[in-house]
Amino acid sequence: MTDQNARLDAAAAGTFALGGDLSVNRLGFGAMRITGEGVWGEPKDPEEARRVLERAVELDVNFIDTADSYGPDVSERLIGETLYPYPDGLVIATKAGLLRDGPGQWRPDGRPEHLREACEGSLRRLRLDRIDLYQLHRIDPRVPAEESLGTLAELREEGKIRHVGLSEVGVEEIQQAREIVPIASVQNRYNLTDRGSEDVLDFCEREGIGFIPWFPLAVGDLARSGGLLDEIAARHDAPPGQIALAWLLWRSPVMLPIPGTSSVAHLEENVAAASLELDEEELAAIA
Ligand SMILES: NC(=O)c1ccc[n+]([C@@H]2O[C@H](COP(=O)([O-])OP(=O)(O)OC[C@H]3O[C@@H](n4cnc5c(N)ncnc54)[C@H](OP(=O)(O)O)[C@@H]3O)[C@@H](O)[C@H]2O)c1
Repeated sequence: MTDQNARLDAAAAGTFALGGDLSVNRLGFGAMRITGEGVWGEPKDPEEARRVLERAVELDVNFIDTADSYGPDVSERLIGETLYPYPDGLVIATKAGLLRDGPGQWRPDGRPEHLREACEGSLRRLRLDRIDLYQLHRIDPRVPAEESLGTLAELREEGKIRHVGLSEVGVEEIQQAREIVPIASVQNRYNLTDRGSEDVLDFCEREGIGFIPWFPLAVGDLARSGGLLDEIAARHDAPPGQIALAWLLWRSPVMLPIPGTSSVAHLEENVAAASLELDEEELAAIA
């Protein structure tokens, strides 16, 4: 069996309606890697970073995940500069609630005044009047969750954001958040070899909430040869990362993987996973 002629089209992954009304192709793009080392500063190759964004859109990727803290500002700014005016149907999901002190350093800030200011900055950099999906990057342990989420509910009522998402949360936190504002998506760390969020994924599936697994390739580990996916990958004449992504897409209809890359070649490899189907025997071997 070979998938050599696989369609390079994110739409082949099927769609999911975020918040019930915003249809996205399930294979998205994570824009954290179009920044410098440690998710800090400008990318090593800014031209390639722009080509990655352009190519993603060409390949029907219409769900791009970013955050004000990627760079900071760099990822959002590059998206705005490169892709605006946006093609119809492109959904840009961004996040707020993490501050940066340097490469690899992250610190939560969920104070209402910070989230309001962050939202204005993201609207400006992304050149948007309204953010389609605004995610609370982390619940700040020093700020009552009702205050952070209450601010997102206000921004939603004001029309500055359309849908609200959460990141790195448990089922109970999602339930509590939903008492304050409707939750359209949850973004937790999840991949074939890191399945600590199974309960959250199952909950999201039952409730029709989008589940956005971050580190879908285990920071590239699952994309490297020499691992457990090699044999199945060889059968499909595909790189192992495609198997990891195809498995995610198979795992749940609410799954929205956002593999991140700074290279067009890797982007193309990842998008090809949208058309790759694993058979029963392969799924059993993976399980
Ligand atoms: N909510 C959160 O707290 C949170 C945390 C982390 C990430 N995220 C989001 O999740 C997205 C995905 O996470 P991620 O980018 O950190 O991890 P990932 O998608 O698991 O892996 C990205 C890494 O894998 C490499 N890679 C990608 N495609 C490859 C391929 N086909 N072959 C070989 N290597 C490949 C990339 O390097 P190259 O650049 O060389 O391709 C990069 O180093 C991020 O972009 C971000 O939007 C969210």
